[in-house]
Amino acid sequence: MTFRAPKGTNDILPPESDWWREAHRVWDALCEQFGYGLVLTPIFEDTEVFARGVGGDTEVVEKQMYTFDDKAGRSLTLRPEQTASVVRAQIQAGGVGSRFKCAYWGPMFRYERPQKGRYRQFYQAGVEYLGSASPEADVEVIELGYRFLERLGVENVELRLNSIGDPADRAAYREVIRAFLNERRDALSEDSVRRIDANPMRVLDSKADAEVVADAPTPVDHLGVEAQTHFDAVRAGLDAIGIPSVLDPRLVRGLDYYNRTVFEYVPLGYDAAQSAAGGGGRYDGLFEVLGGKPTPGVGLAMGLDRIELASAQRGRTSQLDAYVASIDESRRTDARALVSRLRSSGLKVETADQHRSVKAQFKDADRLGARFVVVIGDEFDDGMATVRSLADGEQRSVALENLSEWITSQ
Ligand code: HAM
Repeated sequence: MTFRAPKGTNDILPPESDWWREAHRVWDALCEQFGYGLVLTPIFEDTEVFARGVGGDTEVVEKQMYTFDDKAGRSLTLRPEQTASVVRAQIQAGGVGSRFKCAYWGPMFRYERPQKGRYRQFYQAGVEYLGSASPEADVEVIELGYRFLERLGVENVELRLNSIGDPADRAAYREVIRAFLNERRDALSEDSVRRIDANPMRVLDSKADAEVVADAPTPVDHLGVEAQTHFDAVRAGLDAIGIPSVLDPRLVRGLDYYNRTVFEYVPLGYDAAQSAAGGGGRYDGLFEVLGGKPTPGVGLAMGLDRIELASAQRGRTSQLDAYVASIDESRRTDARALVSRLRSSGLKVETADQHRSVKAQFKDADRLGARFVVVIGDEFDDGMATVRSLADGEQRSVALENLSEWITSQ
């Protein structure tokens, strides 16, 4: 009997996982620079956290949650996203005093129909900026996502931006869109007809009904004064730091907690049907929905699986600084000692697991992408090693005490 990973999940193995490690490093460095502390929350939560937080008539809650009862009969759900978890955690911790900025990275779970770039277990890197209603917070979060893609070498990214207004704006808009949709009821899909009463705005991003809603009224044309001022400030803020964005009036996002700003990053060179490599928005009502005090918030999540697919540096293997080879069996202990010293000095170093022919060791070094092979032979007793560059084949003798500095300086 053999087993396979469950449908819609992936094993990510070396060397592919080198990209993931690098992406994680880039993310951590960026979040530290921007001042976002690390937040770790459980992978499962009380089902109500997501049912209420994400919203009852979203696809995520209606169709995609991995929900189960534990042995004591509690209904738990594997997190389909982490914003609701982070807000739940902050409410539990006593609320947000002043502003609170945090970052996370990890697997999320949605029972979706799997295809390229759309999985049942997928990975997000996200940030949440809590306690600030300022448009400057929106701009900062949007910039962080943009820089992440930039640093990973994802080219030709379109930042799509929209505002869906405040609840009162949306209540007024809802009547307008409802009237528009009711007139075209017969042409709409079953799902969209069902949404006319519950959540008509969501019909705007229905793929099945794209033609019918192509000239529908949009929320950005029905903003109140405050939401309009906020949106203008976000756009001006992005312009001021040189981040290009396009207004996408039909962008409404798939989760119910948003108000005002919503955005997505779409790599244009990426051919998969699932195009957004990340997205987010403002969610000033979410704390109250989850039983907390009114607290504004804005955040984003980047979809790592999709970013990998869109990344120019995909599959790049990490380079070894050196491969230590032994000339014969008697030099294995010396080789191991040198490997240990070089690794302690911070270099990336590999060696064989036992003596093999020198030719086989060179082949191994080449396969692993080593820059240098350090050959340990009898000159080791005089404090010397032979170092060969795999790039140009040049060979020289280097004193062991200078070896790590020498390699670093090359
Ligand atoms: P989301 O748009 O549902 O937002 O997910 C963010 C990103 O996760 C998407 O743009 C996509 O790249 C990736 N993603 C979503 N579902 C899948 C899937 N099935 N397979 C592969 N990748 C996927 C959120 O989750 C919000 N929590 C973002 C946020 C944070 N808003 C405010 N704060």
